Amino acid sequence: MRMSSTKIFVTGATGYVGGSVVNRLLLHPDAKSFELTALVRNAEKAEKLNALGMKTVVGSYSNLELLTESAKGADVVIAVADSDNLVAAEAILRGLKQRYEETNKAPILIHTSGTAIIADNAHGQHGDHIYSDLDSDAIEAIPEAVPHRNVDIALVKADKEGYVKTYTITPGTVFGPVEGPLVDAGVQHQHSVQVPALIRASVARKQAGYIGAGKNVWSAASNKDTAELYVVLLDALRKNPSSVGHGRDGFHFVESFEYSGYEVAEETGKVLAELDIAKAAEPTTYTKEECTQYFGDWWEILSSNSRAKGERSRALGWKPVDGKDYFIGSIRFEVLKAAESLQKK
Ligand SMILES: NC(=O)c1ccc[n+]([C@@H]2O[C@H](COP(=O)([O-])OP(=O)(O)OC[C@H]3O[C@@H](n4cnc5c(N)ncnc54)[C@H](OP(=O)(O)O)[C@@H]3O)[C@@H](O)[C@H]2O)c1
Repeated sequence: MRMSSTKIFVTGATGYVGGSVVNRLLLHPDAKSFELTALVRNAEKAEKLNALGMKTVVGSYSNLELLTESAKGADVVIAVADSDNLVAAEAILRGLKQRYEETNKAPILIHTSGTAIIADNAHGQHGDHIYSDLDSDAIEAIPEAVPHRNVDIALVKADKEGYVKTYTITPGTVFGPVEGPLVDAGVQHQHSVQVPALIRASVARKQAGYIGAGKNVWSAASNKDTAELYVVLLDALRKNPSSVGHGRDGFHFVESFEYSGYEVAEETGKVLAELDIAKAAEPTTYTKEECTQYFGDWWEILSSNSRAKGERSRALGWKPVDGKDYFIGSIRFEVLKAAESLQKK
């Protein structure tokens, strides 16, 4: 796909992941050849993005006509707002189909899913199964009832119909601090979901905790490494689109290393003890009641194994940099933040 200007429509541009993707696009050596438009829910944030040189449309995933119209105007849609919103995904696909009908060229949809699609039901026990993103048959066999699969399956079907090429970025746990122009402008969410949820519970309980035996394992990659994959993929598509798998062969797992529930609790416990929030550094397992109290229905996902190998991602030339030490350091940072906000209450 060589063209003078690439029109890119981004959703979730103010988010923890999407904001970092936008940061990377703004700092891309070819940034001048990108025409970036972001869907933004908040008019004030839209103005700040405009000041950074982006176009914006103010609206949400509920404004289906706006989504269709915006997607119709784009060579590339990068969707990072919601992995599960099928109605919004269908509105985007409608717009991309209309673009195909006008141009006879299949536009690109880079959608964000997540490795919750491969999570088991281990309740804190260790699981052996590791999925590779090259195993399209195994991914295709994952049922529709599993989180994110409703949208993933619709995208594969659309790709098969030929009017769009779909690529699914599938992160495990994304973690770590964010930086860049969107952070400086105060528009980007600065915290992830999964590890901060585990940490907040430990801080509130005043003793670090893990679920079950804490032996369950998730794949993870830093925010920076995750955002980098979107750009590596986009660059590969700009250079040599036929070299990149799409549709059922377009799943790209984002992982750099694995961590267990216990490891998060262990580091959290050390920091809580140093801060005198916990009497002892040693973490303990949550009771069933505590699981429900702190995590609601989410406790099962948090105590699952989700083990991914991003072999397709690496084949693009993506090389994650941040490893386990960086992860452990980021836990310290998140515990300090969570403790600070608890003390303010
Ligand atoms: N973080 C992870 O570890 C992780 C891992 C795997 C997959 N994912 C997936 O990646 C996606 C982004 O995650 P994230 O951590 O970046 O989340 P986030 O920080 O909450 O960001 C979500 C972004 O989407 C926007 N948004 C939310 N609901 C919207 C709606 N109804 N209409 C339009 N925009 C909407 C938010 O805008 P506002 O600024 O207005 O809130 C924000 O820009 C999610 O779908 C998530 O499932 C995340």
